[in-house]
Amino acid sequence: MKIAVYPGSFDPVTLGHLDIIQRASKLVDRLVIGVLTNISKKTVFSMEERVKFLELVIKEYNLESKIKIESFNGLLVDFAKAQNASFIVRGLRAVTDFDYELQLAQTNHVMVPDIDTVFFTTRLEYSYLSSSTVREIANFGGDIRHFVPECIIQFIYDKYKTIGSV
Ligand code: PNS
Repeated sequence: MKIAVYPGSFDPVTLGHLDIIQRASKLVDRLVIGVLTNISKKTVFSMEERVKFLELVIKEYNLESKIKIESFNGLLVDFAKAQNASFIVRGLRAVTDFDYELQLAQTNHVMVPDIDTVFFTTRLEYSYLSSSTVREIANFGGDIRHFVPECIIQFIYDKYKTIGSV
């Protein structure tokens, strides 16, 4: 069984993430989306919210049969091993992602040589898109329809209504 993990903070999941999830899931028997909980930067959305958003999206796009969503703490390679994964999936948007992603992939490979990182080049229409852009726009009440799946839009606006403009 070919298993891959797709890790990230998903704060929140975007259409760019969804595109990678759809494409990566075609190559494996199971894609485990790993939602990182111990990130040094503080997230706007709680771990429960980030997982819930992913669950809603996976359901809306009928991807449930191949995809599992898990939160994880600690090292990505340890999470990948625990999931019996042979691959780590990451998206590459632009050259600006490259240094960080290369360092991450090489470090992970030194720690666990059996697990390889596979990169998907982001589709052109999402190459500018990031969770932080979505947060910035939502924070000021802008239109996020082109950036995140429809089913989570209202939850994102509601969050900013609750916490106020940050
Ligand atoms: O969506 P992000 O924030 O770009 O994802 C970054 C992520 C989760 C891939 C990265 O922060 C990570 O793997 N963190 C877990 C700790 C770890 O294993 N670090 C790499 C070795 S130093």
